[in-house]
Amino acid sequence: MVHRLAYLHEAIEPKVVHRDIKSSNILIDDEFNGKVSDFGLAKLLGSDKSHITTRVMGTFGYVAPEYANTGMLNEKSDVYSFGVLLLETVTGREPVDYSRSGNEVNLVEWLKIMVANRRAEEVVDPSLEVRPTVRAIKRALLVALRCVDPDSEKRPKMGQVVRMLESEEVPYREDRRNRRSRTGSMDIESIAEGSNSTEFANKVERTGSSTSDRSQS
Ligand SMILES: Nc1ncnc2c1ncn2[C@@H]1O[C@H](COP(=O)(O)OP(=O)(O)OP(=O)(O)O)[C@@H](O)[C@H]1O
Ligand SMILES: [Mg+2]
Repeated sequence: MVHRLAYLHEAIEPKVVHRDIKSSNILIDDEFNGKVSDFGLAKLLGSDKSHITTRVMGTFGYVAPEYANTGMLNEKSDVYSFGVLLLETVTGREPVDYSRSGNEVNLVEWLKIMVANRRAEEVVDPSLEVRPTVRAIKRALLVALRCVDPDSEKRPKMGQVVRMLESEEVPYREDRRNRRSRTGSMDIESIAEGSNSTEFANKVERTGSSTSDRSQS
């Protein structure tokens, strides 16, 4: 599914901005392949334009802040929605849930607080039968937090998201004592706080091209 979104954004001209990426629009087949559905809101974006200005559409909780605030749309708003979807997948929570209290209502805000407080491992969906590894959890959260960066220019492209999710690079600090010497390590806490967000992606970009052309989702 991530590959398919990368295709719409990066492989074709004009690119397709879906505008309604969310869990109910990703259909899962018998083999658990994800398919992007519901192109009713999709817009075309030619390479001569950095964005189009259009009426704000989409689904509450998934719409990127710059698009919600200004109507300025490009493929980076799908990247934001994808980040929300990824957080939903990891946590089993809805993007906006009024049955929860205080800072837990908004999923993105809650995640940033939990990660900044080094409580990333506590956010995983408790109903999962097989608990993912800490490494997998942190990788998914790191990617998701980069996708929901309030600054659309800092968000990764979907092709980078594919490479980051497939990368074997350890995207977080494994051993605090050695952190200065481990050039590839970094902490997701600093991303939650809005700094240091491109280091991992840049490293993956430099080293990960050999894994980038798989066609399965
Ligand atoms: N071809 C399909 N096969 C199985 N389930 C589907 C299919 N198309 C839609 N659904 C499911 O049916 C439900 C309703 O889908 P629908 O697209 O009408 O609304 P939605 O995705 O909740 O909102 P939106 O109208 O913004 O897309 C969703 O849970 C969706 O995942
Ligand atoms: Mg739908």
